[in-house]
Amino acid sequence: MIEFINKIPKAELHLHIEGTLEPKLMFELAKRNNIKLEYKSIKEIKNAYNFTNLQSFLDIYYSGAKVLITEQDFYDLTFEYLLKCKENSIIHTEIFFDPQTHTSRNIEFKTIINGITNALEDGKNELGISSKLIMCFLRHLSQEDAFKTLEQASKFKEKIIGIGLDSSEIGNPPSKFKDVYEEAKKLGFMLVAHAGEEGSYKFINDALDILKVNRIDHGVQAVYNNKLMQRLKEEQMALTVCPLSNTKLKVFENMKQHTIKQMLDFGLNVTVNSDDPAYFGGYLNDNFHAIYKNLDLSKEDIITLVKNSFNSSFISKELKKEYLKKVDDFIAKHTS
Ligand code: HPA
Ligand code: ZN
Repeated sequence: MIEFINKIPKAELHLHIEGTLEPKLMFELAKRNNIKLEYKSIKEIKNAYNFTNLQSFLDIYYSGAKVLITEQDFYDLTFEYLLKCKENSIIHTEIFFDPQTHTSRNIEFKTIINGITNALEDGKNELGISSKLIMCFLRHLSQEDAFKTLEQASKFKEKIIGIGLDSSEIGNPPSKFKDVYEEAKKLGFMLVAHAGEEGSYKFINDALDILKVNRIDHGVQAVYNNKLMQRLKEEQMALTVCPLSNTKLKVFENMKQHTIKQMLDFGLNVTVNSDDPAYFGGYLNDNFHAIYKNLDLSKEDIITLVKNSFNSSFISKELKKEYLKKVDDFIAKHTS
């Protein structure tokens, strides 16, 4: 089964590119850009990744991102992740980026987006991995700031498929971003938002009703409300669940407590994702291994999760069909 999990073609739908910054590259970029890190060694960095909640992670994550300065830095970051995709049999990925983390340090929007999209193009040509890019607003900042970011993105509209919402959930409800989501929808962007990660399940309802999102990122708090569970099932709303992230950030005490299997059995449209793999101790296959081992998943469960990832992606109907055929061909070959 581990071999089956490793090799089955997959899509990843919840991945922060800044969260793929491995300590080794962090050191290299710090050196390249003459930036002094707080840590003396890779071991010291990894020891600092001892999170107690979402905020304790975000503080370190934003601090790490300060080594990203030039277009080449963003390119290298992105291409390294695409090599991990290859290792993890990810054939399609939808990547988040947080422009405000960088523009607030006077890095130009075009530096960020050109570095990332050039790597994505090379990833397509050299590795055969297709991708989409989703721009996230930082929810601890104001809606006015989000509007400014949307305005900066307008020149690069054809490179960005959708809008997302991340950072500190508690105290920053979806309603804070109602107007900017309405504007983004008018401009033709797809809409997603982190909701119900460690904040209330009510934020999931609000992301659906107020922001009109097409997908919910995380959404694991839904299990605490039956009515919402029923709604998510009826709407077959995609939920991009990130198991290792959830246990590292103490949303669940350990993997045995994770509710993804419960959500799957209830009939929800759940997918598996790695969120910030360099910080949470594993890429996509590691996330699958962790839930497979701890939650007694069947082969059918794995197949459902994988198929959900393609069905819930923002690719064309034709490409979905092509990728789902690749999955079926793989299953047939593996079973025979
Ligand atoms: N939650 C909120 N914001 C984030 C995350 C997350 O899991 N990862 C990176 N930014
Ligand atoms: Zn996330």
